[in-house]
Amino acid sequence: MSRDFWEQRYQTNEMPWEKGAPAPGLVDFLAAQRELPGGTVCVPGCGTGHDAREWAKAGFRAYGYDLAPSAIRLCVERTLAAGLCAEFRLADFLRDEPPFPFDWLFEHTLFCAIQPPERELYLRAVLRWLKPGGQYLAVNYLIPDTDGPPFGTTREEIVQRFSPHFELLSDWVPRSYPNRVGLERMFWWKRK
Ligand SMILES: C[S@@+](CC[C@H](N)C(=O)[O-])C[C@H]1O[C@@H](n2cnc3c(N)ncnc32)[C@H](O)[C@@H]1O
Repeated sequence: MSRDFWEQRYQTNEMPWEKGAPAPGLVDFLAAQRELPGGTVCVPGCGTGHDAREWAKAGFRAYGYDLAPSAIRLCVERTLAAGLCAEFRLADFLRDEPPFPFDWLFEHTLFCAIQPPERELYLRAVLRWLKPGGQYLAVNYLIPDTDGPPFGTTREEIVQRFSPHFELLSDWVPRSYPNRVGLERMFWWKRK
């Protein structure tokens, strides 16, 4: 989907993904993993920045990237209002170069937002933006939809696509927003 498509969604306030809060599965993960050493985290397709701010609250150096200028403007405004420290930049995650390789990369509703033929490009982007040995935490949307966005996937597809490059540390059904209960699965990967 083009930059104009996403920008238009923000300008017309057609954002069914915008829940006004971070992904519940991320909140629970960070609460349970308090001993993580921290570091830099990249949140591609960050929307209005709820997830990046949650990483920042947990002590990480959080960077959010999005294709839509209005999303980045909202991220900056809301982060300032919350008194938090996180950086947000316009970028095409699939095609741009990272400013530096990240320790962590967090996925939440970007994989399902891109066209399925772009999934190989997505995998290549994760490998470009994440350090060797870096950790990739994903909330994937396991829905059957083929007429997205959102476009669905399966656990089998995710495992087949990422396993050649990542070791799967754990995967589980997270707590979800009310309209996504039972439809999400989290995957915690370490880059080989
Ligand atoms: C479904 S929304 C999810 C936003 C956010 N992750 C959330 O859950 O609230 C998808 C977001 O990805 C952004 N996006 C789509 N393609 C992108 C790309 N190639 N690079 C960076 N951002 C992209 C869109 O502008 C949009 O903000």
